[in-house]
Formats: sequence, structure tokens, C-alpha cells
Amino acid sequence: MTVETEEASLAQTTERVKVLVDGRLAGFLDEHAAPVADPEVAAAYRLLRRFILGGGKRIRPLLCYWGWRGAGGEESDQIISAGSALELCHAGLLIHDDIMDGSELRRGAPTMHRSLAGMHEGPGAPSFGHAAAILMGVLTLAWSDELLSASDVEPGRLRAARALFDRLRAEVITGQYLDILAQVRDLSTVEQALMVVRYKTAKYTVERPLQIGGALAGADPVLLEAYSEIGLPLGEAFQLRDDILGMFGDPAQTGKSVLDDLREGKHTILIAHAFQHASGAEARHLGAWHGNPSLTEERAAELRDIVVSTGALARVEAMIADRSRDALHALHAAPVDPLARSGLAVLAGGLIDRTR
Ligand code: IPE
Ligand code: IPE
Ligand code: MG
Ligand code: MG
Repeated sequence: MTVETEEASLAQTTERVKVLVDGRLAGFLDEHAAPVADPEVAAAYRLLRRFILGGGKRIRPLLCYWGWRGAGGEESDQIISAGSALELCHAGLLIHDDIMDGSELRRGAPTMHRSLAGMHEGPGAPSFGHAAAILMGVLTLAWSDELLSASDVEPGRLRAARALFDRLRAEVITGQYLDILAQVRDLSTVEQALMVVRYKTAKYTVERPLQIGGALAGADPVLLEAYSEIGLPLGEAFQLRDDILGMFGDPAQTGKSVLDDLREGKHTILIAHAFQHASGAEARHLGAWHGNPSLTEERAAELRDIVVSTGALARVEAMIADRSRDALHALHAAPVDPLARSGLAVLAGGLIDRTR
């Protein structure tokens, strides 16, 4: 196969997997209508359906797919269902993340708690929206469990995948906890901020999806370890890119606000590094406006300038490049077939160099 035909064929595979995952999710949601006939409950379920099906890059199902193919699995309904289960888990986590982060925009549309609040009027609407979105998030997380358990694979392999899924959930919840803890602690070091990145994103987004796909296809411990060596640096690079997009990205492309992280006072590595290298005046300015709910676009632009002038942006770009190199090195050494290696290399490139 020439390089061009291989690239075209991988692009087709990516599109096909996304379509199959969307189809599986739609089918699952059709089978899981609200158990009561109340029209307002039905409206909440419709919002949830729109959120789950309406966008998202489907990274985790794609990684799960390539993890499976890399372990010798053929394309099948089983891996599409497992990938769809990971996507449901991700959707539930996002709904809760947006409540926790006070975010109003996700995938270019109002976040679930905002949409749910919008179904009611009066002073109680925002707290109704929060409470309702907590419930919708929990429901989505419960569905992800149900869908993974229903996978029609050999019981020993399913058990191995479930054990990884159990770890994934504890890891991401702990990571989210570390993330909110960092906001109430004084300052984070770059080391502490990296720990947050690893747990809140890298494991659930890249490392575990690859391993779960592998385990479902019967991967041995050597391959699972190789997936970890690829997945952790790649997942960290993915979140570091997300931090940059969260401050410097184009909301029309990311579908998220560029003020949330600054207003919320997120202790990203960009910010940790900027504080460490700021002059006295810069540190005072950062201290006054980072985490200040009345931050305006104008003040945000000044904070971005400080992140650039302290070298924090360049440092994080270098960290992404280091991790990208490590992940690709591990991928080249991994005992996977050439097709999965190419598929993963293309996917990895897309996770690191992205605008959305
Ligand atoms: C967003 O994940 C949350 C992070 C872990 C950074 P994605 O960037 O995969 O979100 P969608 O699914 O494409 O919207
Ligand atoms: C995403 O964290 C991690 C999870 C959703 C578990 P962030 O809060 O950094 O991601 P965005 O920027 O809102 O997508
Ligand atoms: Mg968030
Ligand atoms: Mg968050």
C-alpha cells in the first residue's frame, strides 16, 4: 500500500468507527427511554440525548478500537459497544465537570446544567439546573457500566476489561478531586499540576481506553504495559494542549469558553509556570485576576501576555513535544501489528496538534 492509500484507508476507518459508535449510542438511547410518561422528564432525556449524540471527537472509542486491533481483534460489534460505553462514561464526566467548573459552553452549545435550568423560570432555575444535571450525569455513568457489561466477549476477557474500567473510574474521579483541591490550595508546583493532568485526563482518555480495547481482545501483560507507555505521555500531551486551547484557543472551534479556566482559577501548568517565573508586578497582576470571577476579556488578554512573556507557553509546548516523542517511541517499540501502529500514529498526531 502506498502512503497515500494507507492514509486514505485509515481516515475511512476513523470515520466508519465514529459512525458505528454514534449508531450504537443512538440504539442504546432508544432502548433507554424514560421509565415514566411525564413530558418534562421526557424533555430532560431529549436534552441528554442531544448532548451525547451532538458532537465530540470520539477519541476514547477510537483508542479502544485501535487497542483491540493492535491485540489482534477484528472489527466487530463488540468493540464498538465497548467504545460506546467509554463515550457514555466520558459524557457523564463532562456533565459533572461543567457544573464543577461553572462552564456555560460545551461542544458549542449550552452545557447540560444551563440547558436544564433553561427549562424553568424564576430564581430556583439555576439550582434546579445543577441538581438535574447531577442526576443526568449519574444516569449516563450508570448507562456506561450497563453497556460495557453487556459486551458479548469471552467472560475472562470481559472481566479483565471491567477491572481496568473500575480503575479508570476511581482514577478520573480522584483526578477531578485533585483538580478542585488545587483551586483552594495556595499555589501548585508544576509537579503537582502534572499529577492532576495524569489522573483527571491522561488515564481515562488514553491509557485505559487502549488497555480496555486490548484486554477485550485478550492482550497479554506485555502489550498492556506497552499501551500504558504510549497512553500516559500521549494523554498528558492531550491535556496540556487542552490547557493551551482553554486559554488561547478559538471558541468557535473548541466549542468552549477561553475565560473559564482563568475565571475559575485553574492551576494549570501554564499558570504554575507563569507564577514561578513572573516579575513582582506580573505576579501581583496574576494573583489579582487569576480566579477572579469578574475577569474581563481585557484582563484575560493581559494574563495571556504574562503567560507568553514568562515563557510558560513555550515551556508547555516543549512539554507536549517531549511527551509526543516518548509516546511515538513507545508506539514504535510496541508489539502491535503494522496497521494498528499506523492507525495509532495518525490518531496520536491528531490528539496533539489540534484546534478543537
Ligand atoms: C474534553 O475531552 C475533556 C478533557 C479531558 C480535556 P474531549 O476533548 O475528548 O471532548 P469531546 O468529547 O471531543 O467534546
Ligand atoms: C476535563 O477537565 C476532565 C474531565 C472531564 C474528567 P477540564 O475541566 O480541564 O476540561 P474542559 O476544558 O472542561 O473540557
Ligand atoms: Mg472543565
Ligand atoms: Mg474540570
